[in-house]
Amino acid sequence: MRPLKIAEGIYDVGVKDWNIRDFHGYSTYMGTSYNAFLIVDDDKVVLIDTVKEPFTDQLMENIQKVIDPKKIDFIVSNHAEMDHSGALPKILHRIGADKPVYCSKMGERALSAHFNTKKINYQVVKPGTEMKLGKRTLSFIEARMLHWPDSMFTYIKEDGILFSSDAFGQHYASHENFDDEMGEGLFEHAKKYFANILLPFAPRILKLLESVEAMDLTLNMICPDHGILWRKHPEKIIQRYGEWARQETREKAIVIYDTMWNSTEKMAKEIVDGISYTGVEVIPMSVRNWHRSDVVTELLDAKALVVGSPTLNNGIFPTLCDVLSYIKGLKPCGKLGAAFGSYGWSGEAVKILNKELDIMGFERIDDGLRALYVPDEKALTEAYGYGVRIGKAIKSQG
Ligand code: FEO
Repeated sequence: MRPLKIAEGIYDVGVKDWNIRDFHGYSTYMGTSYNAFLIVDDDKVVLIDTVKEPFTDQLMENIQKVIDPKKIDFIVSNHAEMDHSGALPKILHRIGADKPVYCSKMGERALSAHFNTKKINYQVVKPGTEMKLGKRTLSFIEARMLHWPDSMFTYIKEDGILFSSDAFGQHYASHENFDDEMGEGLFEHAKKYFANILLPFAPRILKLLESVEAMDLTLNMICPDHGILWRKHPEKIIQRYGEWARQETREKAIVIYDTMWNSTEKMAKEIVDGISYTGVEVIPMSVRNWHRSDVVTELLDAKALVVGSPTLNNGIFPTLCDVLSYIKGLKPCGKLGAAFGSYGWSGEAVKILNKELDIMGFERIDDGLRALYVPDEKALTEAYGYGVRIGKAIKSQG
């Protein structure tokens, strides 16, 4: 139900996108939302962020249910990516084209490049700038690379509300709106978002968390631009962000593979059983059936990535190229790696997989395991033993 009142005079006027299933390569099988926040104070009315362009009318209708949109004095753009800025030109057209748009310096640069034919009254705000709205005061916090160089947070000290843009969000559309209406499953959605969107910026996130902690802000509520709002236990998602940004792992391996005539799959099964025998948690993931974004989510807290491919045309399976390229871009670190696969004559796949693991900076357990054509009893026993070895290597890093 939108608009959603989140505090006296503050509303989420954003929209839920129930039907989106792909967000540039990320499987959004639960949809998403584009949250946008309307603050109606004594002296000023402010809109924080907008929505994806096709949802402009819905955003306008939601605002209209609270206040005449023309009464909006200015817009704050926390982030220039189009899921939050796409509606900006049309909204300005309707509320008054010369209304100010407050953003970071990089925000002005990015928004200008997106809307280069539109004359927009950008007003750059520096981190720490305060702006009185009446009873409330807005301030701005630099949040560079969460998710783009332009990203910033907006904070209301009187309410202790942080509008955190992409940070702490989830691609999740539901009838629930707040963390206290959800179970622990909410953290799985937040984890997937972190793993697929924010992981490359993990070192920056750690620094940002430190600097926000040093500000000693009262945080009664964290309102991201996607998904559920954190009002009951905002500290819990901050704690998880610390763990994820430090890339803390547990005794867990994922075994990703594809197979041609089930030979590599037979090896995978033995390796999984061998790892499991050591007491290490292991997830077998056929990349035909697991989406790349779910692979990365499971990899986030895994200690080891085990990857298998048969040799195809002197190379690896294209499905593995897809997943490995995606993983590489997200820059996970501190993992062990191992490779395996069946082959017929040339057998380059394992060598190529090893190279990929090296490029990612993973510590390889060895040069990998190969099996000729169809693994026989001996080869299957070897694969099981290989799994045991991988499990022991994970445990030894305890
Ligand atoms: Fe939700 Fe980086 O945009």
